[in-house]
Amino acid sequence: MKNIKAIIFDAYGTLFDVNSAAEKCKDKIGDKWEGFANFWRTTQLEYTWLRSLMKRHKNFWQITEDSLDKSMKTFNIDSAMRNELLNLYKALSPFKEVPETLKKLKERNLRLAILSNGTPSLLTQLVKNNNLDNLFDDLFSIEEVGIYKPDAKVYDLPIKKYKIEKSQVAFLSANTWDVSGGGNYGYQSIWVNRNNDIFDNLDYKPINQIKNLNELINLI
Ligand code: LAC
Repeated sequence: MKNIKAIIFDAYGTLFDVNSAAEKCKDKIGDKWEGFANFWRTTQLEYTWLRSLMKRHKNFWQITEDSLDKSMKTFNIDSAMRNELLNLYKALSPFKEVPETLKKLKERNLRLAILSNGTPSLLTQLVKNNNLDNLFDDLFSIEEVGIYKPDAKVYDLPIKKYKIEKSQVAFLSANTWDVSGGGNYGYQSIWVNRNNDIFDNLDYKPINQIKNLNELINLI
């Protein structure tokens, strides 16, 4: 990939493992922990899209709580676990290759940033808790525009700040719909496909597909 001026990362699911909160409670939740984690994540994302369409914005933390409440009822999970799960969600772990890869990328003359649905304070805590805070130039949050991905106003944020062309951004996401959102907007989108999944039919095919962030080093 040539002419890249900024590498922009999605946060949840791409740098940070959204299933790690439920996984840390798997002794208490039992075998259904993974189904529960996937349901929580899917419901959370549905709420972002629905609230954007209904023009009834709530921030990502409120949406995370609302979707957790539905998921706990659906999977019959003891309400005493609510606080534990929420606290774990605030301190999600990064995927294991993430810190090392970011450090290598930091040595290059490129902007590194996160562009996420997360609130500014959630994103700040996440990078701080994982000692990644000095690696990013910016943590762009959709709260600045009050609408969720994949609205173009979100993908516009780094372009406006850095005054670069859309095609000068390498955008990385593990969320297929976010890869399509960024790609249709004009970014060069790369799909982080950790689990050998199938891509969407949303008018965009990723420029590249990688299994983990390590593979990015040779692409850029
Ligand atoms: C985010 C969600 C899409 O971080 O994972 O924006």
